[in-house]
Amino acid sequence: MNGKGAFIAFEGIDGSGKSTLVRLTYEMLSRRGLQAVRTKEPSSGPIGRFIRAQIGEMDGRMSAWALALLFAADRLDHAERLIRPSLERGLIVLSDRYLYSSLAYQGAEGVSWEWIRELNRLAPKPDLCILLDVSPETGMRRIGGRPKTIFENERLQERVRRLYLELVEEGEIIRVDAERPLKEVQRDVNLLVQELLKGRGIIDSKSQ
Ligand code: TMP
Repeated sequence: MNGKGAFIAFEGIDGSGKSTLVRLTYEMLSRRGLQAVRTKEPSSGPIGRFIRAQIGEMDGRMSAWALALLFAADRLDHAERLIRPSLERGLIVLSDRYLYSSLAYQGAEGVSWEWIRELNRLAPKPDLCILLDVSPETGMRRIGGRPKTIFENERLQERVRRLYLELVEEGEIIRVDAERPLKEVQRDVNLLVQELLKGRGIIDSKSQ
């Protein structure tokens, strides 16, 4: 994404620590005097709210193809409503989940990547996407073993993780081992974010 701001997405299976790392990154940026905005998908907009109701419904679940369409619609709305305007104002956008969640989750249910990519063609590409990688056992333990969405079962999470790791191999997203203590994960995430911001001239290339 070109422009003055920077767009960073955080990905991972359920219970990988995304919301914590988004918060810590936001705090790190604020301490440096940089303005950031925290957001997530499904978004807080009308389509995002509709999706949340659907994925919390354990019976009569919606088709994975229909969900892929809804997530893409939510993403395009989210991009137009919040992501693009924030980047144009020079802000750093931190998103808890983005396109790669669709590739991993709907992909794990058999939807082709080619089709998902086509649906999301107009969504802005993040400057950096960090995968917080944990095993499904760790993820399920961290969410307390109580599934809140149709996706939170260990077999599906294993397939989702495998697809995320394929995206890492393809060089689209960067893996951080999130099984380690939070301090270490945070240090690696900070380094990646600072590297990006230096590369974009948002922070001084000599600063720590
Ligand atoms: P979360 O708010 O706990 O992350 O829940 C959102 C759920 O939605 C999570 O299980 C992943 C799923 N999801 C998809 O399946 N596809 C997507 O494109 C997105 C953004 C989320």
